[in-house]
Amino acid sequence: MSKRGRANLATTLNKEEQLKIDKDGLDVLADIHRYAQEGFAAIDPGDFIRFKWYGIYQQKPKTDPYFMMRVKIPGGMLNYEQAVTVAQLANDFGRGLADVTTRQAIQYHWLQIEHMPEIFDRLAKVGMSPIQACGDVVRNVISSPVAGLDAQELFDVRDLVLQVEQLFLSNKEFSNLPRKFKISIAADPRDLGHPEINDLALVPALLGDEAGYHVLVGGGLSAKPFLAKNLGIFLRQEEALDVIKAVVTIFRDHGYREKRSHARVKFLMADWGPEKFLEHVEAVTGKTYTRGGVRQTTEWNGAYLYGVHPQKQAGLNFVGLSLPVGRISGDILLELARLAKKYGNGDLRTTNTQNIIIPNVADENVEALLAEPLLQTFTAKPNTFIGHAVSCTGNEFCNLALVETKERMKSIANYLDETFPNFDTPIRLHVNGCPNSCGQQQIADIGLAGALVRIDGKMQDAFDISIGGGLGADAKFNRKVVLKVKGDEVQFAIEAIVRYYEQNREAGESFRSFANRVEDDAVKAAVAAAQQARA
Ligand code: HEM
Ligand code: SF4
Repeated sequence: MSKRGRANLATTLNKEEQLKIDKDGLDVLADIHRYAQEGFAAIDPGDFIRFKWYGIYQQKPKTDPYFMMRVKIPGGMLNYEQAVTVAQLANDFGRGLADVTTRQAIQYHWLQIEHMPEIFDRLAKVGMSPIQACGDVVRNVISSPVAGLDAQELFDVRDLVLQVEQLFLSNKEFSNLPRKFKISIAADPRDLGHPEINDLALVPALLGDEAGYHVLVGGGLSAKPFLAKNLGIFLRQEEALDVIKAVVTIFRDHGYREKRSHARVKFLMADWGPEKFLEHVEAVTGKTYTRGGVRQTTEWNGAYLYGVHPQKQAGLNFVGLSLPVGRISGDILLELARLAKKYGNGDLRTTNTQNIIIPNVADENVEALLAEPLLQTFTAKPNTFIGHAVSCTGNEFCNLALVETKERMKSIANYLDETFPNFDTPIRLHVNGCPNSCGQQQIADIGLAGALVRIDGKMQDAFDISIGGGLGADAKFNRKVVLKVKGDEVQFAIEAIVRYYEQNREAGESFRSFANRVEDDAVKAAVAAAQQARA
């Protein structure tokens, strides 16, 4: 088999494929150092795309000399020195902003090319890097944010998460994939690692009393979302690294390179199916894997872990805190690090719900931690709606965005919390600023997808509203029910949907079950009636 995807290069290539052949994404490092000396104006247009291999994206507008940068945090595991460095870099170079992302990473804004070498150096000193946080490579490996701490997990996956990160990091064998590749590894039965929306996910399984994995391949969101499919094997823990490498190899060599919108491994899986995919895996590794095993999965809770939870280590607890829509400042992160050191062991965990966890808090320290001033704002017991609100970057910084998202989501969630105080059931709200789905709107109870409408000759923010998504055993994407609601009216439309749920649910029925039971027309009618009443 030819290396690095050359197998299918005979077909028409898209622009990015040609750029990668001309110069590998990883080879742009020397140029970044040169541009840091020469300045923004010297940057070759093709290198803007290659910058992604070092986690660097152009910020909006592209003509301005500012960049976003994503820094990887494998499994969301940050130690004290790392958290302090991440926070100080935000303050020194990123106007104080640090966004926790939907894949446990941190995203900076406002960086300038001149500062990149120092940012790389300071991250490297604490064992961190932005390398391959973006680009056509294996991205940040995500996990359960409480891996190694949680009494419910079958076993500890942290070593494997770090081994996978090391295997692919700056590895030229895998630096030219057809598209990005997202991996989730967790042995948690609540599916805290959002397995079905990753390109490759390992989830916990049992064969008799042996604990290992099931392997899911081909999930992903964007405009055409797919749920990952189970290859049907019981993977022993010691076999995991080889199989992960094989799946990425297959994607590299057989993935589609003609159209960027048809390049993720989900399209290969859709054509091949899991049986053929498994044949290829076994051909690459030269092994035959045991069939069967039983996936271990309990109710999916959306990966929300607020409050105080006893760890499997006796006498210790992890404390889940809310960071509304993932936006914090360097100063807040510094304070979180200080509290983690004072009350825990200095570690922090970022979550894929854009929140944070302070682990390893001794029983006797819990009360004092909860009484800290910072925790009165970034609380362990957030209001229902703001505590379950996720947002992509949106048009504040993203060149692809149609609409603003983070402030919009905060105001919608705060409005709902005022309207339905102490609402008894979590309703997960996600918003995307365009169809790319960085805010994962398809897995939301109520998802918002940004669109534009022309009103009185002017384009204005609007949102399509979808309901009923979720992962876990009954994984399913939500479905669009109400189209193009004006931005400043969307909170009223959601209020009508929540009220309709409140008045018509069965005892104990979750929003997700309700949404999948009721007819679209009934939901549309509830929204229309509320709109008329306001007119
Ligand atoms: C400049 C533009 C973009 C920005 C600012 C942006 C931002 C983000 C961020 C912050 C995340 C969380 C990622 C992480 O932690 O690793 C993310 C994830 C994601 N992005 Fe983007 N992104 C951009 C472009 C795109 C494009 C072009 C696509 C698709 C064509 C896309 C699709 C996604 C998807 C599907 C996720 C994933 C959620 C998941 O799998 O869990 N993004 N993006
Ligand atoms: S969903 Fe669209 S608008 Fe939001 S960050 Fe991703 S690419 Fe940008």
